[in-house]
Amino acid sequence: MAFTKQTIEDIDVAGKTVLVRADFNVPLSDDYKITDDYRITQALPTISYLIEHGAKVVVCSHLGRPDGVVMAEYSLQPVAKRLGELLNKPVIFCHETVGDVAKQAVEKLKPGDVLLLENLRFASAEELNDESFGHKLAELADIFVQDGFGVVHRAHASTEAVTRFIPSVAGLLVAKEVATIDTAIEDPQRPLMAIIGGAKIADKIGILRRFIEIADVVVVGGAMANTFLLAKDIEIGKSLANKADVPLAKEILAMAEKRSKEGSLVFYLPQDGVVAKKIDSGTRTRIVDWGAHTMSDIEHYPKRPPQKSVQVQFDELILDIGPISGSFIAGAIQSMKTVVWNGAMGVTETKGLHGPIGPFAHGTETVIDALLGSYGNKPFSVIGGGDTVGYIEGHGLVGIFGHVSTGGGASMELMSGKTLPGVEALMEKK
Ligand code: 3PG
Repeated sequence: MAFTKQTIEDIDVAGKTVLVRADFNVPLSDDYKITDDYRITQALPTISYLIEHGAKVVVCSHLGRPDGVVMAEYSLQPVAKRLGELLNKPVIFCHETVGDVAKQAVEKLKPGDVLLLENLRFASAEELNDESFGHKLAELADIFVQDGFGVVHRAHASTEAVTRFIPSVAGLLVAKEVATIDTAIEDPQRPLMAIIGGAKIADKIGILRRFIEIADVVVVGGAMANTFLLAKDIEIGKSLANKADVPLAKEILAMAEKRSKEGSLVFYLPQDGVVAKKIDSGTRTRIVDWGAHTMSDIEHYPKRPPQKSVQVQFDELILDIGPISGSFIAGAIQSMKTVVWNGAMGVTETKGLHGPIGPFAHGTETVIDALLGSYGNKPFSVIGGGDTVGYIEGHGLVGIFGHVSTGGGASMELMSGKTLPGVEALMEKK
């Protein structure tokens, strides 16, 4: 889908002071070192474009969810350093976000200079979308550029109120994210598959509904699948599941069944899983094939499998999809042209004893292998959602996928068909 808002390429920025809203909400280690700079690298095309076109660049962002001014933990100072390294030029850091100190820092800028303001959320007015805070931000610049895709689903002062005061356009990242995700949903190369994982159905209800309506194949994995299994009366032991969401799961299953009966959807829930008694690198795991249960009851052939192999025990947890489910998903990917993936298939945080792949990450690895064309077909892949993207970044695989979104909540809201206030507020193309 064409992006309908004006971008930095549609306006003249030479000699102008440009306020760029980035999303530099990056993970920091205990000693405040950036552990993943993907969001910073993705902001570089816009900032570099503005530098090259002679703008004075003032960048603002939030970091975390501070309650007031929490200097060490939530300061953007480490980001200024990293941004400078990536741009290969010094980035001036201002310890204030708005007001006289910030104004004076901006006044000293020359074309091509870059200044980073302190964390927007040190002021509670930011998240309240306070008009006077938006005005104070606007006072710092001639033009506003929205490039923080990860935060455009929020109506905050730096995403909405600020746009009431100065001409406001999109940065290159926001334009790319919105156009790519929109196209994958509205006008995808078919067949279209959605792989939805993660913990809670309630968090993903919007995209589940949307993809059941529009996709050719929908696969559910991760802890979320457990609630669907409960809804189908399958034993899940002490696995993470949300009993309150069982009615919601039943509703989704009914929707999916309706489209499946019409012959227009394959809806797949894991039929086996990796289970263990605890989440630990060295724990003993086994594969439970609950999908075989029905078959063995019907066929009695070659003989009924032992009960334990088809049933999760009361003290066990389902921690990953099993090999049959992994094979099914990888096989289905072979005939897809577009795959949207949001949410890991299992617990990917547990490290492996002898290597980078943890004991409950094999389902997620199978999906990655299949999406990257290891079995032949390589569909266009759109990856969104914090845990999936984090895993892919951590394994150095970002550049190999079609599109890896910088936005968790924002990409999900866009995929669900919701409007994004931070994009809506920008000027339409002429
Ligand atoms: C994110 O990490 O998803 C964005 O930076 C938005 O952060 P928030 O959920 O704290 O608004």
